Amino acid sequence: MSSNTPQQPSSYSLAVVPGDGIGPEVTSAALAVLDAAEAAFGFTTTREVFSAGAHHYVATGELFAEIEERLRGHDAILFGSMGDPSVQPGILERGFILQMRQRFAQAANVRPVRLYPGVRTPIADLTPERCDLVIVRENTEGAYVGRGSTVHEGTPHAVAVQESINTKAGVARVVEYAFRLAAARRRKLTLCHKTNILVEAGKLWAGTVAEIGERYPEVEVDYVHVDAMCFHLPTAPERFDVVVTDNLFGDIITDLGATVQGGMGVAASANLNLDGSAPSMFEAIHGSAPDIAGTGAANPAGAVLSLSLLLGHLGEAEAAAAVEAAAVHVIGGMQSLTGPGMGGTTDEVGQAMAQAVTALAEGHLSSPLRDSLTGAMAAVRGGAQR
Ligand SMILES: NC(=O)c1ccc[n+]([C@@H]2O[C@H](COP(=O)([O-])OP(=O)(O)OC[C@H]3O[C@@H](n4cnc5c(N)ncnc54)[C@H](O)[C@@H]3O)[C@@H](O)[C@H]2O)c1
Repeated sequence: MSSNTPQQPSSYSLAVVPGDGIGPEVTSAALAVLDAAEAAFGFTTTREVFSAGAHHYVATGELFAEIEERLRGHDAILFGSMGDPSVQPGILERGFILQMRQRFAQAANVRPVRLYPGVRTPIADLTPERCDLVIVRENTEGAYVGRGSTVHEGTPHAVAVQESINTKAGVARVVEYAFRLAAARRRKLTLCHKTNILVEAGKLWAGTVAEIGERYPEVEVDYVHVDAMCFHLPTAPERFDVVVTDNLFGDIITDLGATVQGGMGVAASANLNLDGSAPSMFEAIHGSAPDIAGTGAANPAGAVLSLSLLLGHLGEAEAAAAVEAAAVHVIGGMQSLTGPGMGGTTDEVGQAMAQAVTALAEGHLSSPLRDSLTGAMAAVRGGAQR
């Protein structure tokens, strides 16, 4: 566990779950960046690497339950990705990823949506100044609790019921977090839901936002239906600062957000435990990309930006900012965000990011590098309109 005595450098214990496909490749790149950050900023980590994912499941039948207690003992979890055609869809999602979120009360799935300088977005005329928001998705309830049933299955009279569970406590904890985040940013919170159709859940969500909002008078509160969000998010992302939403809507609009910010390869996420009862988990939002696994074409930026979120969560704010700036600097120079257009393999891109962390910390910068890195750091520190 972490120790913060003045003489001793802080030390953190990390669980590393590389997973399948490109997961181990991007995780290895992120760990190279972590090595550089430790050397530059004077903290240390111990790392336990866990074998888990599709291949491990096929070989052993093991999922989350078998490693839950060992994972629980760590300060944070760095996660690659899981999935392979050899395992039926749903087994790893329900048996590992959803299990971890629920058992470790990772109540808030936090996804920054930032268009970084130099990154191409499919949205015409969008600029980094207009795109800097955070989506906070409820991560343990809603339609993802796995409750439901089918009767008369396989007949013309089949009836499938899939339940969405919304508890006051579950909604309140994520809304409280979203208000805190908004208060520390540009002081605007948007609830995204479908209160006109899902009236029962909608009442609970809207009522909770109104109630908790009374304690945050400085935060402006806004509401957008989820279908309207699919229009506003790509065309006017500057409207949003912090968006709070339910599990299913969040799953969908965060992928839209990733597209707006340039693609899956650059999008990061945190699955936050908000009460300190279990570790939080940090992962790029992309999957295991079996189509490019082993080719060196995977962009490690999402994993490295997730590492930055992890470091911020552990309290290493300077290192978190440097890691983010290093990633921003490197992706800003890429011709494309995947394959040879990145200017190197996954490993090489990771090395370039690691070197940028070192260069930033030491301040020994040649002039073009200095301009790019200081620009990246200004973008990281300043945000769009913060
Ligand atoms: N959290 C997770 O572990 C997670 C999330 C999503 C999907 N998955 C699993 O991943 C597997 C593949 O799913 P998918 O193909 O739908 O999604 P995917 O994100 O793996 O890939 C979608 C497309 O994006 C590309 N891509 C993804 N990450 C990239 C990166 N870092 N750099 C460059 N290109 C990248 C891929 O090559 C592919 O063309 C499935 O088994 C799925 O269940 C896992």
